[in-house]
Amino acid sequence: MNATYEHATPEAAAAACQRVPVTFEINGTIRQFEVEPWTTLLDLLREHCRLTGTKKGCDHGQCGACTAIVDGQRINTCLALAAVRDGAKVTTIEGLADGERLHPVQQAFIDHDAFQCGYCTPGQICSAVAMLNEGHAHTPDDIRELMSGNLCRCGAYTHIVAAILAVAEQPQGASK
Ligand code: FES
Ligand code: FES
Repeated sequence: MNATYEHATPEAAAAACQRVPVTFEINGTIRQFEVEPWTTLLDLLREHCRLTGTKKGCDHGQCGACTAIVDGQRINTCLALAAVRDGAKVTTIEGLADGERLHPVQQAFIDHDAFQCGYCTPGQICSAVAMLNEGHAHTPDDIRELMSGNLCRCGAYTHIVAAILAVAEQPQGASK
């Protein structure tokens, strides 16, 4: 006797999957969404919020292009499930400036010519802001070590370190 197998279409499987309600404070605004259980915070930011400053590089936690600041910590948003981070306060590159006034780290990246193609830059800047708030970066070697999770395919590291060091040496630091 032949067995009969029924295969659900991808559409039917997706419809059967329960969406998860989540709420975030994103760049100072409370926002609510319904996401699939596997939606990453990176995809929520880029595809649900259209905040495409946060970049998708490797999508595997290895390049840092997707770095955003979540509850004060810099994280790889490609590795964070939105459902798990429900309720978090998220700051992306779009939320760092104060109106027309750039964040000191943004300004320093411009002043020190710390980017070429710019693809890694939002992640570098978000990572640098949170790192400076951590208070452990005092020397170029500290910065190189603590920023080692943010890769730059253009090799702009020398200027990136100079930009971050310039902010670290400012009395007011890089708070956000
Ligand atoms: Fe997240 Fe590379 S895209 S670490
Ligand atoms: Fe091009 Fe860093 S500026 S990858």
